[in-house]
Amino acid sequence: MAVAVAVDEPGLCPEGPHWDNRTGTLLYVDIDGQKVHRWNPVTRQKDTVAMDCMVGAVVPREAGGVVVAAGTKFAFLDFETRQLTDVATVDSHKPTNRFNDGKCDAAGRFWAGTMGHEPVPTQVERKVGSLYCLHTDRTVTKAFNETDISNGLAWTSDNSIMYYIDSLQYSVDAFDFDLASGTLTNRRKVVSFEESRDGVPDGMCIDADGKLWVAMFGTGQVLQVDPETGTHLRSVKLPADQTTSCCFGGPNLDILYVTTASVGLSAEEVQQKPLSGCVFQVTGLGVRGTSGLCYNG
Ligand code: BGC
Ligand code: CA
Repeated sequence: MAVAVAVDEPGLCPEGPHWDNRTGTLLYVDIDGQKVHRWNPVTRQKDTVAMDCMVGAVVPREAGGVVVAAGTKFAFLDFETRQLTDVATVDSHKPTNRFNDGKCDAAGRFWAGTMGHEPVPTQVERKVGSLYCLHTDRTVTKAFNETDISNGLAWTSDNSIMYYIDSLQYSVDAFDFDLASGTLTNRRKVVSFEESRDGVPDGMCIDADGKLWVAMFGTGQVLQVDPETGTHLRSVKLPADQTTSCCFGGPNLDILYVTTASVGLSAEEVQQKPLSGCVFQVTGLGVRGTSGLCYNG
């Protein structure tokens, strides 16, 4: 196994990496930096679109371009023209809320959650976030509310289960998932974490064997866990403490890309870990991921 810097330009809060196999690029956001990035590992060029608010998630759109969950809006973004088109607004009665992590299901819906004001990382206004679903007809439904920091999402390959992380619950939860309707039922805890030992569970992805890879904010690691037994399988250490999310990418889906944040660190902490805020690549793990899904509306 080898860990190397992929994008050698620290951001504030790089997050939500997504491998876009159509363009061979890594999409990701910088939440506090208010940017959407598209990085090409072959040319090592990065294309950046500046936003005017915090942006929590980006996914490719089947019809072209990408969809972002930015501020409290879902919007289409065209990388070529830089044009942003609003699609829907959520949480309009909660002006200090913003979108956080999001991902698409196999039917092409885009799921993304909101969270409250967070003056210091993890010190968030409690229980004011919700998980939303942008359907392919562009209508939005709320799946549930009272979340703290809505984060990682993943589905089993048969689409029967959706995994979900609300960071301050220190767990991965599972729902029975109905792909045809997008309905979630039977919430239960399947993996537990201990804050002092493991860190704060943040973004995650699933590998081809159904194991989850969870970025643990604060402890500089990605944990591979088994959602069927709750077992922690292995830890991959990164040279930056605030690991925020991960996804498999590359032509063979065997490179684990890991985003990290520098926001909230003291000058001393940045000096100790100068790569904080970079995107890393982990190779030689011996596993493959599943391909990222597009929004189909
Ligand atoms: C949020 C951050 C938060 C972190 C903690 C991220 O997804 O965007 O604001 O501090 O999770 O896990
Ligand atoms: Ca996150």
